[in-house]
Amino acid sequence: MLKKIIIAIDGPAGSGKSTAAKNIAQKLGFTYLDTGAMYRAITFIALRNGIAENIPAVIDMARRINLKLRFENGVTRVFVDDEEVTEQIRTAEVNGKVSDISRIPEVRAELVKIQKRLGDEGNIVAEGRDVTTVVFPNADLKIFLTASIDIRTKRRLKEFQDKNIAITFEEVKANLEKRDRIDSGREISPLKKADDAIELDNSAL
Ligand code: DC
Repeated sequence: MLKKIIIAIDGPAGSGKSTAAKNIAQKLGFTYLDTGAMYRAITFIALRNGIAENIPAVIDMARRINLKLRFENGVTRVFVDDEEVTEQIRTAEVNGKVSDISRIPEVRAELVKIQKRLGDEGNIVAEGRDVTTVVFPNADLKIFLTASIDIRTKRRLKEFQDKNIAITFEEVKANLEKRDRIDSGREISPLKKADDAIELDNSAL
């Protein structure tokens, strides 16, 4: 049997992980794994069910949820119990809460289990905050992708503008800074560069 290849990319929000990972996956015919989409789906359901502040209820939901990702034509479609939530997981409301939800260790444990299983199944390009350090520490290639905060804000702002969502540069920047702080400062699986990851700043690329 041929060896399965794992490419892992971590970095802060707006650093271009998804764009890079999607393109690599399409070119190589690998599976694309957007781990952030999984944390976003849990967050969206928690908000919709009114349980986002109730940690035991969120953990219980994360253990039962039937989460499916389908990568089609360059887009990751996300399904929860067969309901499509692809659009709903990218709202400002979800952006504002996802770092709090992804800080819950039991939620991470559930999602990491699923991610590792997907990694066992075939060639994969995975991106997130802990895929180079926790999910796939033995990945064949590890990239730590970064860009300046202003460039990352501009990129996210454009995504919102493309969807006709009214939001200011300052609001987007404040959300990114807040998420960077929580994602990098948390005790469990913080965003950090793995010792053997290649650091790539794509601010000007
Ligand atoms: O990459 P993204 O912006 O879609 O990720 C959304 C949030 O999910 C991010 O702010 C932190 C969390 N996340 C995480 O904690 N671990 C991952 N592997 C991926 C995302």
